[in-house]
Formats: sequence, structure tokens, C-alpha cells
Amino acid sequence: MLSLRRTTLKYLQVRDYLRALAGSELTAGDPVPSERALCERFGVSRMTVRQAVDALVVDGILERVQGRGTFVAPPKVDLQVRLASFTEEMTRRGMTASVKVLGAGIVEAEPDIAEALQVAVGDDVIHLHRLRFADDEPMAVEHSWLPALRLPGFLDGGVPSSVYVDLGTRGLVPDWGEDTIDAGEADHDEAELLTIGPGKPVLRITRRAFTGDQAIEYASAAYRSDRYTLWVPVSRPN
Ligand code: GLP
Repeated sequence: MLSLRRTTLKYLQVRDYLRALAGSELTAGDPVPSERALCERFGVSRMTVRQAVDALVVDGILERVQGRGTFVAPPKVDLQVRLASFTEEMTRRGMTASVKVLGAGIVEAEPDIAEALQVAVGDDVIHLHRLRFADDEPMAVEHSWLPALRLPGFLDGGVPSSVYVDLGTRGLVPDWGEDTIDAGEADHDEAELLTIGPGKPVLRITRRAFTGDQAIEYASAAYRSDRYTLWVPVSRPN
């Protein structure tokens, strides 16, 4: 029991030391001290050092690069909880948004999509499956559904690079909406697309967006939680 507590304390010491180092002396891309150096410094086993590093990798503070070692990760993107598009959010952060279209077409609305979009079951809806990048790094996998009847010719010129810019040109950019955010694990396909391991944590964000009183989008996305921090302004209840 006592030795278990000692090991836990040592683990926390290593973890906190590396966390502090990553936030002070070292910057993104710098290598962290070697496993051996950390073992010697703290008098712990390699396993303890690895556990501490693992925890910081999951938190997005460090990253392991195959065959090269462990480095301080780039700072997380603070994703504001507001009705912004992916392109707007990345531009605000000084990053370049890009997209890989994994699938796009008109499908018949399934009951849950029909309900979310306030259309009849079986009505035409536009379905987009997209991998979103910031500065060429994969960040999120998104499925979006939009009511096809309200968006004639939406796919005629190919999938727009920004859906919200396209909606804006039609005077249909959403003006309010609701997001729900859940903790989840990347499934096999998401893990591959996001270049993270299967089962790694992701933020599952679903959105219903409205223009006036009409639903214009229902979306379901998996964001890398090692690269995102949700930023939520909070105020006292009235
Ligand atoms: C965010 C939202 C999605 C929305 C997308 C539009 O990622 N979570 O629901 O579809 O923005 O972004 P863009 O205009 O860059 O296509």
C-alpha cells in the first residue's frame, strides 16, 4: 500500500515536472528529456516515466513522433462554443482551414435526420462527410445534413470549401443553434483519418443550426481532443 502510494507520488512528480517544463523552458517542437535522464532524476522505473508521458500525450501537451522521440506538442486550438464555421474558427486562430471530401450526395432523410431538420422522412437531404484540416493537420471528421429543398443546386459546382460561406451567399447563414458536446472514443475509421490511435479520446459535437425558425443544418463531428480545448464564456445566472 505504502509503496503503491510512493509510486503514485513519483508518477505525479514526473508528470508535473514535464508539464511545467513544457509550459516554461521548452516550446512546441522541443524534445523532452530522455527516459533515462528522467529515471535517474526522479529515481523511478521506465514504466513510471512512460505513464507520466502517456498522460501528457493524452492531454495534448506532449506528442510522440515514431522513431524520433517525445516532443512538446503545438498549443491546443481553443474552440469557442459559438455558432462559427470551421473555416471561421481556424482563420480566427491564424490557421488555414482546408477540407477533404470523403463523401457527398443527396440521400433520403432517415427519421432522426428528418426530425432534426424539420423535414418529412424520405425527403431529399444533402449529406456531406468531410475531413477538416488546420494547417494541413487533420482535426475533425464531420457529417453534415442539410435540407436539399431549401438549397437548390448546392452540389452543382462540387462541395463548397466552406458550407457557411455558401449558405451566406444564399442569405441562409444560420443565426442561432445548439451544440451538444460529449466525450467519446475514436472508432477505427476516425482514428485512421485523424491519425490518432483507435480508442483515443475525441470530442463529439453535434449541432442543429437554424436560420430564423427553420433548421438549416444537422451535424455530427469527432474532434481530436488532444488538439482542442473548448472555450466557454461563463456568467452568473440571472
Ligand atoms: C463547424 C460546425 C459544423 C459546420 C461547419 C461549417 O465545424 N461544427 O456543423 O458544418 O462548421 O464549416 P465550413 O463553413 O468551414 O464548411
